[in-house]
Amino acid sequence: MVYRRNQTLRPPFPPRPLRETFLVALMVFCSAGAVAGERSAVQGREEARKVLKEQGCGKCHDTAVSTENLQALAVYDLHEVDWPAKMSDGRLPKLMTRLKGAPAADRKVVKRFIEAELAARADRQQ
Ligand code: HEC
Repeated sequence: MVYRRNQTLRPPFPPRPLRETFLVALMVFCSAGAVAGERSAVQGREEARKVLKEQGCGKCHDTAVSTENLQALAVYDLHEVDWPAKMSDGRLPKLMTRLKGAPAADRKVVKRFIEAELAARADRQQ
Protein backbone atom coordinates (compact mmCIF):
# COMPACT_ATOMS: atom_id res chain seq x y z
CA MET A 1 0.00 0.00 0.00
CA VAL A 2 1.32 3.37 -0.97
CA TYR A 3 1.40 5.90 1.78
CA ARG A 4 -0.22 9.06 0.64
CA ARG A 5 0.29 12.15 2.56
CA ASN A 6 -2.99 13.42 3.79
CA GLN A 7 -3.13 16.97 2.54
CA THR A 8 -5.39 18.11 5.34
CA LEU A 9 -2.83 17.12 7.97
CA ARG A 10 -0.04 19.25 6.56
CA PRO A 11 1.07 22.30 8.49
CA PRO A 12 -0.31 24.44 9.85
CA PHE A 13 -1.48 21.81 12.25
CA PRO A 14 -3.43 21.94 14.45
CA PRO A 15 -5.65 24.08 12.22
CA ARG A 16 -5.66 27.72 13.16
CA PRO A 17 -9.15 27.86 14.73
CA LEU A 18 -8.27 24.99 17.05
CA ARG A 19 -4.99 26.61 18.03
CA GLU A 20 -6.76 29.87 18.81
CA THR A 21 -9.37 28.09 20.86
CA PHE A 22 -6.59 26.44 22.82
CA LEU A 23 -4.79 29.76 23.43
CA VAL A 24 -7.98 31.47 24.56
CA ALA A 25 -8.73 28.56 26.89
CA LEU A 26 -5.19 28.78 28.27
CA MET A 27 -5.51 32.52 28.86
CA VAL A 28 -8.85 32.10 30.65
CA PHE A 29 -7.39 29.30 32.74
CA CYS A 30 -4.35 31.38 33.74
CA SER A 31 -6.29 34.52 34.61
CA ALA A 32 -8.76 32.46 36.66
CA GLY A 33 -5.76 31.08 38.57
CA ALA A 34 -4.42 34.59 39.16
CA VAL A 35 -7.78 35.77 40.49
CA ALA A 36 -8.08 32.73 42.75
CA GLY A 37 -4.54 33.31 44.07
CA GLU A 38 -5.28 36.95 44.74
CA ARG A 39 -8.50 36.05 46.54
CA SER A 40 -6.88 33.59 48.91
CA ALA A 41 -4.34 36.27 49.86
CA VAL A 42 -6.95 38.89 50.61
CA GLN A 43 -9.15 36.92 52.97
CA GLY A 44 -9.98 39.34 55.80
CA ARG A 45 -7.68 42.03 54.42
CA GLU A 46 -10.42 44.64 54.07
CA GLU A 47 -11.84 43.94 57.52
CA ALA A 48 -8.38 44.27 59.07
CA ARG A 49 -7.80 47.52 57.16
CA LYS A 50 -11.06 48.86 58.58
CA VAL A 51 -10.04 47.98 62.15
CA LEU A 52 -6.65 49.66 61.77
CA LYS A 53 -8.32 52.77 60.40
CA GLU A 54 -10.81 52.81 63.25
CA GLN A 55 -7.97 52.40 65.75
CA GLY A 56 -6.30 55.53 64.38
CA CYS A 57 -3.30 53.77 62.79
CA GLY A 58 -4.12 55.67 59.58
CA LYS A 59 -2.92 58.91 61.16
CA CYS A 60 0.61 57.78 60.36
CA HIS A 61 0.16 54.63 58.25
CA ASP A 62 -2.12 55.95 55.46
CA THR A 63 -0.98 58.26 52.65
CA ALA A 64 -4.64 59.19 52.07
CA VAL A 65 -4.63 60.77 55.56
CA SER A 66 -1.04 62.02 55.86
CA THR A 67 2.20 61.61 53.94
CA GLU A 68 4.32 63.08 56.73
CA ASN A 69 5.45 60.03 58.66
CA LEU A 70 7.77 58.36 56.19
CA GLN A 71 9.05 55.84 58.72
CA ALA A 72 5.51 54.69 59.47
CA LEU A 73 4.57 54.57 55.77
CA ALA A 74 7.65 52.49 55.05
CA VAL A 75 6.21 49.83 57.39
CA TYR A 76 2.78 49.77 55.73
CA ASP A 77 0.37 52.13 53.98
CA LEU A 78 -3.36 51.49 54.42
CA HIS A 79 -3.99 53.37 51.17
CA GLU A 80 -2.32 50.57 49.18
CA VAL A 81 -4.58 47.78 47.91
CA ASP A 82 -2.18 45.14 49.23
CA TRP A 83 -1.30 47.12 52.36
CA PRO A 84 0.36 44.22 54.27
CA ALA A 85 2.69 43.39 51.35
CA LYS A 86 5.64 45.43 52.64
CA MET A 87 5.62 43.69 56.01
CA SER A 88 7.78 40.60 56.38
CA ASP A 89 6.39 37.41 57.90
CA GLY A 90 8.15 38.36 61.12
CA ARG A 91 6.85 41.91 61.23
CA LEU A 92 3.22 41.22 60.31
CA PRO A 93 2.31 39.70 63.73
CA LYS A 94 3.65 42.87 65.40
CA LEU A 95 0.41 44.55 64.38
CA MET A 96 -1.03 42.80 67.43
CA THR A 97 1.49 44.36 69.82
CA ARG A 98 0.32 47.81 68.72
CA LEU A 99 -3.34 46.88 69.11
CA LYS A 100 -3.16 45.99 72.78
CA GLY A 101 -5.74 48.61 73.72
CA ALA A 102 -8.20 47.63 70.97
CA PRO A 103 -11.47 45.78 71.69
CA ALA A 104 -11.17 41.98 71.70
CA ALA A 105 -13.42 41.63 68.64
CA ASP A 106 -11.19 43.98 66.65
CA ARG A 107 -8.03 42.23 67.77
CA LYS A 108 -9.55 38.96 66.64
CA VAL A 109 -10.28 40.32 63.15
CA VAL A 110 -6.66 41.41 62.72
CA LYS A 111 -5.27 38.22 64.27
CA ARG A 112 -7.34 36.04 61.90
CA PHE A 113 -6.20 38.10 58.94
CA ILE A 114 -2.53 37.79 59.95
CA GLU A 115 -2.94 34.01 60.15
CA ALA A 116 -4.67 33.88 56.74
CA GLU A 117 -2.04 36.13 55.15
CA LEU A 118 0.85 34.08 56.52
CA ALA A 119 -0.83 30.85 55.34
CA ALA A 120 -1.38 32.32 51.87
CA ARG A 121 2.28 33.42 51.70
CA ALA A 122 3.41 29.92 52.69
CA ASP A 123 1.15 28.41 50.00
CA ARG A 124 2.57 30.70 47.34
CA GLN A 125 6.09 29.52 48.14
CA GLN A 126 5.26 25.88 47.44
C1 HEC B 1 1.87 58.63 65.56
C2 HEC B 1 2.15 57.84 64.38
C3 HEC B 1 1.79 56.39 64.39
C4 HEC B 1 0.57 55.83 64.70
C5 HEC B 1 -0.73 56.52 65.08
C6 HEC B 1 0.75 54.40 64.53
N1 HEC B 1 2.02 54.11 64.16
FE1 HEC B 1 2.77 52.28 63.74
N2 HEC B 1 4.59 53.07 63.45
C7 HEC B 1 4.87 54.40 63.45
C8 HEC B 1 6.28 54.59 63.17
C9 HEC B 1 7.01 55.92 63.06
C10 HEC B 1 6.83 53.30 63.00
C11 HEC B 1 8.28 52.92 62.69
C12 HEC B 1 9.12 53.04 63.94
C13 HEC B 1 8.64 52.08 64.98
O1 HEC B 1 8.84 50.86 64.83
O2 HEC B 1 8.05 52.56 65.95
C14 HEC B 1 5.74 52.37 63.20
C15 HEC B 1 5.87 51.00 63.13
C16 HEC B 1 4.85 50.13 63.23
C17 HEC B 1 4.99 48.69 63.11
C18 HEC B 1 6.29 47.90 62.90
C19 HEC B 1 6.80 47.51 64.25
C20 HEC B 1 8.04 46.63 64.24
O3 HEC B 1 8.56 46.38 65.34
O4 HEC B 1 8.47 46.16 63.18
C21 HEC B 1 3.76 48.17 63.24
C22 HEC B 1 3.40 46.70 63.16
C23 HEC B 1 2.86 49.26 63.46
N3 HEC B 1 3.53 50.44 63.45
C24 HEC B 1 1.52 49.12 63.67
C25 HEC B 1 0.67 50.15 64.05
C26 HEC B 1 -0.72 49.95 64.41
C27 HEC B 1 -1.44 48.63 64.42
C28 HEC B 1 -1.21 51.18 64.73
C29 HEC B 1 -2.58 51.53 65.20
C30 HEC B 1 -3.01 50.88 66.43
C31 HEC B 1 -0.12 52.13 64.54
N4 HEC B 1 0.99 51.47 64.15
C32 HEC B 1 -0.25 53.48 64.76
C33 HEC B 1 3.99 55.44 63.67
C34 HEC B 1 2.69 55.29 64.04
